Amino acid sequence: MLSDRLTLALDTGTIALPGEGRIAVAGATARDDLSMLPRERITVISHFYPDYQAFKTAGYNVNIAFEGPFVATIIALPRAKKAAQEMVAKAARATDGPLIIDGQKTSGVASMLKALKARALVGEVLSKAHGKIFAVTGGDFSDWLHDETHIDGFVTAPGVFSADGIDPGSAALASALPKVLKGRVIDLGAGWGYLSHAVLQREGVTHVDLVEADAVALDLARKNITDSRATFLWDDATTYVGEAADHIVTNPPFHTDRTANPDLGRAFIRHAAKLLKPKGTLWLVANRHLPYESTLEERFQTVQLLNQSASYKIYTATRPKSPR
Ligand SMILES: C[S@@+](CC[C@H](N)C(=O)[O-])C[C@H]1O[C@@H](n2cnc3c(N)ncnc32)[C@H](O)[C@@H]1O
Repeated sequence: MLSDRLTLALDTGTIALPGEGRIAVAGATARDDLSMLPRERITVISHFYPDYQAFKTAGYNVNIAFEGPFVATIIALPRAKKAAQEMVAKAARATDGPLIIDGQKTSGVASMLKALKARALVGEVLSKAHGKIFAVTGGDFSDWLHDETHIDGFVTAPGVFSADGIDPGSAALASALPKVLKGRVIDLGAGWGYLSHAVLQREGVTHVDLVEADAVALDLARKNITDSRATFLWDDATTYVGEAADHIVTNPPFHTDRTANPDLGRAFIRHAAKLLKPKGTLWLVANRHLPYESTLEERFQTVQLLNQSASYKIYTATRPKSPR
């Protein structure tokens, strides 16, 4: 974890931060403890709403993007290789000093280290708790700034969900939706907008609220959907407060930062029950192995398995038990 390795690296002198000036921290999650750093000099860069809000509430300067100059940037590597490269390239552009790279084995830190050694000066490497931390100076990373990708008529980018193609589960849910969907629809965890785009093809839709925590994905959704019935909301789908919906569509996430966590999907389902009108319907797709049935039954009076394949299950749920 970033906190443990960073503390040890600073204590042992493996890594030294400049004595003054602004320091950026990118890729940290709300579970990372940054108390070993001089808070007043830190700007936490996060485009993920729950992390952004948690650091803001804790009194840190926060920003969605790198607005330098910084004297150093600490990077907790994301899992997706291209997203990690892009983070390094953006950090390098905004930093006149070392980049401190921290990563778990599972985030590909070893191959990142190798790639960095080939193009920059890498200091001593500290390995601990299935990960590594090291400082990098110099180097040109401009070719790591990746362009957006065009797939099946949509724009995506590294690091967002289903960056390389439409998610088969979402495609299955889109084709299971009826021809007519009357009224206001919320897409919880809308990503780059695939499901909302499908919803807007249905008759009777008056409005779609796209609720998404990843600001990068939401920006892509703005490009993919130019329909005036769509509203783009950077928010947490488990706490979002908005106008009640006639329908909610969702392919809930099942990861919290770097860890698989079905509780997040369960929180989406519980909150969907609160956001629906009493006669509203939830349309949900989930990987077959995810244990959502009991939460659906806990929060809705009627739950129906609409469709299933070897990989996915599609449910509708109606008559929420906790209407607003
Ligand atoms: C499985 S993806 C589905 C994306 C899109 N609806 C699709 O079908 O392609 C789940 C989405 O939920 C987003 N997400 C994760 N946690 C969230 C939260 N707490 N609030 C809102 N969105 C969240 C992720 O960024 C991701 O885009």
